[in-house]
Amino acid sequence: MKYCKDFIVVKNETITPTLYILRLQYPETLPEIKPGQFVEILVEGEKDVFLRRPISIHDVDKENNQIALLVQVVGKGTSQLSKLKEGDKLNLIFPLGNGFTVMGKRVLLVGGGCGAAPLLYLLRVLKQQNIKSDILIGCKDINHLFSKKEYQELSNLHVTTEDGSFGEKGFVTAHPILNEDFDVIYCCGPTPMMKAISQYAKQRNIPCYVSLEHKMACGIGVCLCCVAETNQGNKRTCVTGPIFLTSDLKDF
Ligand SMILES: Cc1cc2nc3c(=O)[nH]c(=O)nc-3n(C[C@H](O)[C@H](O)[C@H](O)COP(=O)(O)OP(=O)(O)OC[C@H]3O[C@@H](n4cnc5c(N)ncnc54)[C@H](O)[C@@H]3O)c2cc1C
Ligand code: FES
Repeated sequence: MKYCKDFIVVKNETITPTLYILRLQYPETLPEIKPGQFVEILVEGEKDVFLRRPISIHDVDKENNQIALLVQVVGKGTSQLSKLKEGDKLNLIFPLGNGFTVMGKRVLLVGGGCGAAPLLYLLRVLKQQNIKSDILIGCKDINHLFSKKEYQELSNLHVTTEDGSFGEKGFVTAHPILNEDFDVIYCCGPTPMMKAISQYAKQRNIPCYVSLEHKMACGIGVCLCCVAETNQGNKRTCVTGPIFLTSDLKDF
């Protein structure tokens, strides 16, 4: 079931000048939301932005009926969203997409940059199901490391930064945690990073799920602008995905 409802902004937290976390209040009881699902946001107040913008659900607070979205400013739509203030209304279609398949006894989550957004809520669900997890986050520098406290509360956090300002210096693909054994890998971030982690998982025979951030328009399977090439033919990322097992994807 999908909903189209107004949320109220309860907080707009600046992480860096181009990275924000929006906390949104739902006026009713939140429906079931799976980690890895996303929302389509109606951007108001910007006449050039006609289409809704897809943003992953970063976190869910069921007790208080709130969700959190991590927004990176890249254009007019996300710039407008970054200006939202406490009390502003935001119309969302949600929850969209398939979400992650939660499985295994010990799992690894790998996230890069703001693409790591869906992993926090995934960690919350893994913890509820007593699944042991490690999370490896790759980011530019310490200032771009968001939700660190929450990651540490829910999992074992490992970090790589490009400048060495926190954790190991370099990229996630060289981190020693990759030498350990895992039942499943969940990976979100830039496509080259997801492909590299997918190759690593393939060599070790570990199932690997990725979240594809293809450009989307409708977000509900109608416009066909978001297709991904899979071994079963072209699939709409917004409904069959955005989460795919890499062994099902061509080019991974
Ligand atoms: C399923 C899904 C989940 C997403 N989750 C998040 C999230 O949690 N946080 C977040 O900040 N962003 C997320 N995105 C990306 C976000 O939707 C785009 O950055 C946003 O729509 C850009 O809108 P804009 O008006 O600011 O920029 P536009 O003016 O539309 O575009 C600015 C630039 O961004 C590029 N761009 C636009 N859409 C995408 C896209 N989908 N992928 C890559 N590049 C794009 C354009 O090519 C252009 O170069 C997600 C996208 C998808 C499909
Ligand atoms: S965005 Fe329209 S079909 Fe996927």
